[in-house]
Amino acid sequence: MIPRETVDKIIDASRVEDVIGEFITLKKRGVNLLGLCPFHGEKTPSFTVSPVKGIYKCFGCGKAGNSVNFVMDHLQLTYPEALKWLAKKYGIEVVEREITPEEKEHQNERESMFVVMQYAVNYYREVMRSTDEGKSVGLGYFLERGLREDIIEKFQLGYSLENRRAFTDEAIKNGYQPKYLAQTGMNVISNKYVEGTELTGAFLFDRWTSRVMFPIHDDGGRVVGFGGRILTNDKNTAKYINSPETEIYNKSKILYGLWLGKKAIQKMDVCYLVEGYMDVIAMHQAGIENVVASSGTSLTVEHVKALHRFTKNIVVLFDGDAAGQKASNRAIPMLLEEGMNVRLLTFPNDDDPDSYSRKVTAEEFKHYLETNTQDFLLYKAQKLTAETKHDPIKKAGVIKDIVENIALIPDAITRGVYVKECSGIMQLEERVLQSEVNKLRQTADAKKGRGKENRGENTITPPHPDEPIPDFPPDEVVKQEEFLRYDADERELLRLLLNYGNVLLTIEAEDEDFVKYDFEMTAAEHILFELWRDSITFENPIHQLVLDEYESLLEQERIPEVNYFAQHPNPAISNFVINSIFNNYELSKKWTAFGVYVNNEVWQLKKSIQHVLYSYKESKLHNIILERQEQLKTVSPEEEEKVLKDLVTLTEHKRRVNRLLGRIITK
Ligand code: CTP
Ligand code: MN
Repeated sequence: MIPRETVDKIIDASRVEDVIGEFITLKKRGVNLLGLCPFHGEKTPSFTVSPVKGIYKCFGCGKAGNSVNFVMDHLQLTYPEALKWLAKKYGIEVVEREITPEEKEHQNERESMFVVMQYAVNYYREVMRSTDEGKSVGLGYFLERGLREDIIEKFQLGYSLENRRAFTDEAIKNGYQPKYLAQTGMNVISNKYVEGTELTGAFLFDRWTSRVMFPIHDDGGRVVGFGGRILTNDKNTAKYINSPETEIYNKSKILYGLWLGKKAIQKMDVCYLVEGYMDVIAMHQAGIENVVASSGTSLTVEHVKALHRFTKNIVVLFDGDAAGQKASNRAIPMLLEEGMNVRLLTFPNDDDPDSYSRKVTAEEFKHYLETNTQDFLLYKAQKLTAETKHDPIKKAGVIKDIVENIALIPDAITRGVYVKECSGIMQLEERVLQSEVNKLRQTADAKKGRGKENRGENTITPPHPDEPIPDFPPDEVVKQEEFLRYDADERELLRLLLNYGNVLLTIEAEDEDFVKYDFEMTAAEHILFELWRDSITFENPIHQLVLDEYESLLEQERIPEVNYFAQHPNPAISNFVINSIFNNYELSKKWTAFGVYVNNEVWQLKKSIQHVLYSYKESKLHNIILERQEQLKTVSPEEEEKVLKDLVTLTEHKRRVNRLLGRIITK
């Protein structure tokens, strides 16, 4: 357990724009910040962050929350994990007890997996630093390839010993459970193991032996997998052995180097995309940090989306060899389709970033990057046109190729620019090229069921007419509707309470002699008094939770504002308040227009409160009456009279409330 004071300290320190800014690029828009939503694929930003309120909201997919929710959602962390993550970011000390073996047992699966991964990183680093084999073979290899000590440390590189049980034995000795060693893919299970029997260390062996180890991190900096490179040139053994896909390592999402590079990518607003682990590392050594590689698989659409959160400018630096060509042929259409600006950089003589960087100084390397990137499409058009100058049939093929590429670009204006430029390069009429592009777009749209320009992702799809309508039994429907009605009223009462609790209202009252007089009370007191008077508790437990806390604060003469609950340490409460109480329009561009409405609302406040209160009471009474009527059917003759009397009073109450309700509505 993290002590409450520490939790408060962490929440206070966690500026929402700062936390989210670590993961996506945010641009200022009035009082808010705007970026691409990390929770759903989008190409035009609708993810809004309000520093003033300390919350975010996506108008595309509806996700909303505070800093802690964001970290939980984005990094797939539990609440305590998210707090610890934030504490680390802000240098807040979290005092935690040493965990006992029993507690270790109870830790949740994912957390246990991360713990194993962290142990493994330290283990492989340690082996490389302090064993003879590690120093001479592992460290020797990296130094031989020209890596500096600080870079080896920065990337947490390590070495796996020749002995195929070295890691396994050490991990078991240190209390790590065989189950998690297997689940993380750090160990391989022997085929002697029989499914269903106890998995002990004896059935495990190391996945990597005699390899240099590259840990792979998620963009929050946690290790999720490894790539291990062989040190020989043996063509019969795989050059790299990578972790398998696990619960914490999603290969199609994780980009190698993103955790170290994201700040630089945001700052420079461009990212270099390279092929290998060593390329990323070599670029860092040359002082270039805005670089990533796909890890363990070829580039996927999800990788591209992960990058798009930080920048839309990509420079592809794939090898000149056949494998590199194939990789870029796959990657570039994906990048274009995601709306990225794609530039290309090639190195002389089949060099890759790593080998080239070792031939020149860091300054020369940087200069080379800055002066040699070319726009991908224009470069391609030039190169292919030159190559097919005297071959009309081949030239036709080239045109088709270019047209296909241009047609992938989602933005019409950008497409238009390329059509113009490319038609110039290929000496074609612009009109011809444009119509070819349009044709392709139309067929692609028809196939994808895409509407016009760039739509489709932010629009909500209505349910398909063929979808069956859920079939509730009739009284379920009644209950459901009742609950919804309660729910809406309760929510509205809480909204008024949290937004206007401190507004003073003038209330009409009568003294014992039925003399009318006015007195002032806060809206908060008014609402709570009305609920208390009829011993009303909310039906929805989360509503009641908020109400309870509000009441106890009021007793201490504090009137909490909506932000107090939006930043509440209980994620159930903060989530509820952010999603249901903050008005959905509040963060939108219509903010100023909305301001007028707020004033109206304060003006009408007393009426609004009374209206909701009576409506709520009316439905509660209605329900009790139904219950009593139901009772009448089965009640004993002795009790019948009491129930009937109850019914009369209740009905009388209901009539009174209805009258008040009517008066308020019509007035
Ligand atoms: N790769 C892999 N498995 C292999 C070969 C390659 O996962 N058997 C991945 C690795 O992520 C590797 C990248 O593809 O980093 C590029 O491969 P390659 O260019 O062959 O390796 P480099 O990283 O350049 O390694 P080196 O320079 O040490 O040869
Ligand atoms: Mn290489």
